[in-house]
Amino acid sequence: MRHVMIAGLCLLAAAFAATATAKTADRPIRLVVDAGKPGATIDRHIFGQFAEQLGHGIYGGIWVGRASSIPNTRGIRNDVVAALKALKVPDVRWPGGCYADSYHWRDGVGPDRTTRVNTAWGDVVDSNAFGTDEYMDFIAQIGAEAYVSLDVGSGTVGEAQDWMEYMTADQPTTLAKMRAANGHPAPYRVAMMGIGNESWDCGGLMTADEYTAELRRYARFVGSYDAKQPSLKIAVGPGTDDTAWTEAVMKTWKERHGWSFDIQGLSLHSYTVYGGWPPHMPATGFDETAYAHVLGETLKMGPLIDRQSAVMDRYDPDKKVALVVDEWGAWLAPAPGSNPAFLIQQNSQRDAVLAALNLDIFARRADRVRMANIAQMVNVLQAMILTDGPRMVLTPTYHVFRMYVPFQDATLLPVTYAAGLYVHGDTTLPRLDAIAARGTDGKVWLALTNLDPKRSLQVDAAAPGIKATSADGQTLAAPKVDSVNTFDHPRTVVPRPISGRLENGAIALTLPPASVTVVALRP
Ligand code: AHR
Repeated sequence: MRHVMIAGLCLLAAAFAATATAKTADRPIRLVVDAGKPGATIDRHIFGQFAEQLGHGIYGGIWVGRASSIPNTRGIRNDVVAALKALKVPDVRWPGGCYADSYHWRDGVGPDRTTRVNTAWGDVVDSNAFGTDEYMDFIAQIGAEAYVSLDVGSGTVGEAQDWMEYMTADQPTTLAKMRAANGHPAPYRVAMMGIGNESWDCGGLMTADEYTAELRRYARFVGSYDAKQPSLKIAVGPGTDDTAWTEAVMKTWKERHGWSFDIQGLSLHSYTVYGGWPPHMPATGFDETAYAHVLGETLKMGPLIDRQSAVMDRYDPDKKVALVVDEWGAWLAPAPGSNPAFLIQQNSQRDAVLAALNLDIFARRADRVRMANIAQMVNVLQAMILTDGPRMVLTPTYHVFRMYVPFQDATLLPVTYAAGLYVHGDTTLPRLDAIAARGTDGKVWLALTNLDPKRSLQVDAAAPGIKATSADGQTLAAPKVDSVNTFDHPRTVVPRPISGRLENGAIALTLPPASVTVVALRP
């Protein structure tokens, strides 16, 4: 029997299971927020995005070119920019992914772009019309920071140094002058740089020893040319439960000395792929069994992070090195009729629930998980936005990211509740998932996910000490767990207002089945 238990909730859930009966199953769940015990800051960078030069992630999705009839600003589509601005996207990881390890930045700057074959994704022609300056323009338009992935696979330390000099040098060097000639005299800021991507796989099938040798050189010699704005350096981390890679990188970091090198982050990649590779779970037209299986799979993210964090803790008890989950999300079967190399998939209410569960997992571990990037922002995998020519639709996952904006840089607050159980077939999951935080606006915010697709759930939320009398916010529910937004029906899954009032000392909120709710408590 498949039995999924969630770290941190297991004891509560197990205790509840022992007494749960058909009668008690629909009782309200009492949830208590301890607003007097502030925890870690939920770094806004856990709401980061990833945009790879893959399929229509960039071309068509973000970049349409200046001559396009689709409204654009310097080639970047206005509708997509407006939608992303509302998410307050903290950073965009680019240009890959696997693509990054074959990316030569000079191909994508200046008036004469080098056309290449995108060997990472479908062997299609890559015009390089969207290069460094277009990326920087795009992130400036949406108000995000730069997170570039360096080419460790097919590039050199020198090429990466040159790229960073092109982007960040203020002095009148040849490369800074080249940037100015390309229309950008002022240096760009590169907030984060990734040293390779999945070097244990598409990034060169390196052993941990081979990678750490590369890491020492890249981390030593490549960086921002602006001493006042150094780039955080993020090493390639694990992509499975195996901790050997993490051990090797953290040991290398621990044994560094003098001014040899430093890193501030270790990456972790983990997709929700139920039933093994290749991804085959349909994105639409699935039943409750598939719903439960996929959510059970995604909840493995918590224990995975905990196992990797435990290794990091041994080398880095002060948590100087962040765990950066810079690829996560549902990886499902490709949309019927699409190019499988383009990783196009629809996005349902199940994806919305999945996104909320993962954001909660990261937030609870905010002391170590200080960055994450969902894969991917537009038209690829678990996207925020889908486009088709001039048309654009916002996905259920988009709405979750928008609803969670108040959690950006908020302070985590302890929350206790007996999660209850959602049981379907061979899968047992918690019925409720919840986090609480004090936002930068001073308000206490709750995010509540009802995993049960058949039963609504009453939560009685109490926050002793803050004298709340009501709660207001939004809830994202859908007619069915596989409901999606389409170009013709873009509002099937959209957030609706929800509010709760004080009843018997707690705020009573009724969460619809398979829903995500975010509310602020009000005095
Ligand atoms: O996001 C798609 C791909 O998944 C990325 O390019 C790669 O890093 C990962 O395997």
